[in-house]
Amino acid sequence: MARTPIISGNWKMHHNHFEAIQTVQKLHYRLTDDDHEAVEVTVHAPFTDIRSIQTVIESDKMKIGIGAQNCHWEDKGAFTGEVAPPMLAKLNVSHVIVGHSERRELFGETDETVNKKVKAVLTHGMTPIVCCGETLDEREAGAAESKVEGQIREGLSGVLGNHVAASVIAYEPIWAIGTGRTATAEDAQAMCAHIRSVVRSEFGGDAANAVRIQYGGSVKPGNIAELMGQPDVDGALVGGASLEADEFAAIVQYRNH
Ligand code: 13P
Repeated sequence: MARTPIISGNWKMHHNHFEAIQTVQKLHYRLTDDDHEAVEVTVHAPFTDIRSIQTVIESDKMKIGIGAQNCHWEDKGAFTGEVAPPMLAKLNVSHVIVGHSERRELFGETDETVNKKVKAVLTHGMTPIVCCGETLDEREAGAAESKVEGQIREGLSGVLGNHVAASVIAYEPIWAIGTGRTATAEDAQAMCAHIRSVVRSEFGGDAANAVRIQYGGSVKPGNIAELMGQPDVDGALVGGASLEADEFAAIVQYRNH
């Protein structure tokens, strides 16, 4: 079954709302209708930017998906500093990154909170981009597959098969994030295939064939084509190289390389 590739820019804590608007506008000028036909593109801006970029994306009918980087799992309540899924849905956010390794490492996210967030995002009609990935120590100890498998099983626990099918999983080896060190295309393929087999055993063949799996970690215009050439790599979650529109557009246009 053909899966539409999805390439997502995770801006992390970069770009104020003026810079965000400019970046989205430039990206829009660089991308053609053919690009949008071939690849789904989302940008995950800081919360303070989302309303601004929503306005330009919708008024200019841009085909760029509006993403967020995180959310809480409750609809509302006394959770100072948090943002609720319905608030994002109201801004026409389509995709929410859940369980990024930086949130797990720096902000105490666990597989349990990831699972709650995944369900909350789906309940509000948005698509979770569920992140997983191992540390260098875990890889060197031969524990990469079991780590990622556990994150997927627990992160998606209790989610309906048709919801898993519509979700995105991002495999981001922690040692490749922001280091300039990319996993080889073979390593990325091997882990993405493993993730798909875990989804198959938990949720069945339809979910496994439909779920899209991104690779993330030092993705650049120079390595994207080889990564996308792997049968189980359906897209990329791009950090640093998504901040600048020309570079991100070159990644989205990997078919032309
Ligand atoms: P880099 O592309 O900067 O390595 O970041 C990857 C990432 O963490 C995307 O979520």
